[in-house]
Amino acid sequence: MNMDEALQFVETLLAQRGHRLNDLERKIFQGAWQGKSYKEIHRVYDLGISLEHMMRNVGPTLWKHLRDAVGEPIRMKDLQGPIQRAYAAKAQAVLPAIASSFVPSMPSLPVSEPRGLSLPQHRTQTDWGMAPDVGIFCGRDRDIAELQERIELDRCRLIFLLGIAGIGKTCLGIRLGQHIAHQGDFDAVIWRSLTNQPSLNLLLEDLLQTLQELLPGNPPWSSNLLLNLWYYLRNYRCLILLDGLERLLPSGSEEYSAEYEAYGSFLRRLGEAYHNSCVILTSRERPQATSTLAGSGDSSPVYYYWLEELGEESAREMLASKFDLSGSDRDWSLLIRLYVGNPLALNAAASQIQDLYAGAIDRFLAVHATETAIFGEIRQVLEQQLAQLSRQEQIIVDCLARIGEPMPRTRILTEVTAPLSNEQLDQCLQKLLWRSLLVLENFYYMLHPLVQKYAQGRLGL
Ligand SMILES: Nc1ncnc2c1ncn2[C@@H]1O[C@H](COP(=O)(O)OP(=O)(O)O)[C@@H](O)[C@H]1O
Ligand SMILES: [Mg+2]
Repeated sequence: MNMDEALQFVETLLAQRGHRLNDLERKIFQGAWQGKSYKEIHRVYDLGISLEHMMRNVGPTLWKHLRDAVGEPIRMKDLQGPIQRAYAAKAQAVLPAIASSFVPSMPSLPVSEPRGLSLPQHRTQTDWGMAPDVGIFCGRDRDIAELQERIELDRCRLIFLLGIAGIGKTCLGIRLGQHIAHQGDFDAVIWRSLTNQPSLNLLLEDLLQTLQELLPGNPPWSSNLLLNLWYYLRNYRCLILLDGLERLLPSGSEEYSAEYEAYGSFLRRLGEAYHNSCVILTSRERPQATSTLAGSGDSSPVYYYWLEELGEESAREMLASKFDLSGSDRDWSLLIRLYVGNPLALNAAASQIQDLYAGAIDRFLAVHATETAIFGEIRQVLEQQLAQLSRQEQIIVDCLARIGEPMPRTRILTEVTAPLSNEQLDQCLQKLLWRSLLVLENFYYMLHPLVQKYAQGRLGL
């Protein structure tokens, strides 16, 4: 087995576990395969990271992924042994045709059904559009399993993947699509971004053209784009991922536009009318237009999934693979909790720690533990989201930020600075909840911790 074959084999193994090697990891693997030390690899390849970061973070994370994939400990000095053993074990278990794609000269094995290892069947046609390269992806196994169950067992037709900005909806959507494409049960997987606010007609035309290119068959063509789309959704099993629905939703004070109405009725159709496919929309905000669609019951074809924080271990793995940070376990844990496991907020903070605090987490915490600074893109998004609120919503957010503790609705009514009726309060609370800005627990409302920090900063508290 030569290095390229080994790399190809390892990439397939890791991809099945949801990990795609990035360039950096590929180079480290190649160097280690040739028996090079970290120092030599660092000298030979232009890696763009420090030797220390490679030895402490990127390398160990790679070996951990490999260990999980091959099922035995991996030592950098003896990389070839475990990989070749894993290869031999898999080769016993799969069809010779698949195995020989790794080793062209391999003697043919007796034909048997694949066991244990299900290699990609490449049956699913895909079109990823302008999907960002997810690169390093950490954790989220439970979320993927839950969503897959809804798609495969419950046959959900319409799924909303919801959560605050930066929590990882786009990345998770793409990763989920990759998993499903890899399994090969779907006929087509298509990913499209809605961030440029395409008109519904434009989106339908694009989807139709793509489906026509990907799938066989001659649909009975009608002038009604939706009917044409239904031909594919009913006759094939397609997964369509639409990313960033929030860009199409009217903000707090805006009127509903005709375009939005068209999208609203499209979404209702997707949930209500029978078809064989699944459409997943990621959004910061749960759309009002689908409020009448039942959801989240076990047998419902519509499902609303709120994505929560990235677990501590996964968040640390994510940061360690991208940034050169140092700190005790306690420092890492404090940092991750400070930004409530929000990957975008954590990445922005980590970049500052690396640049301004020489990577020392404790130095950053000494400055920011009490008044959390929210940096970069997530700051802009929160700023924008809060600026778009209606006046009444704004009053409630300010009140919650000022008091700074969870409150029941009756207390909010007495604490707000301008009188609100019960009906107005309920309406506003629902909208804030649906925009991922508010959290409700046991009848107590509080701002999402990141929103709380941002809003308090804005009030000078
Ligand atoms: N599971 C993850 N593993 C590694 N990085 C992640 C993960 N989830 C999110 N990120 C990082 O956080 C950033 C924001 O994630 P994204 O999916 O764009 O959030 P959202 O769509 O919810 O606003 C991404 O660019 C990526 O760098
Ligand atoms: Mg997104």
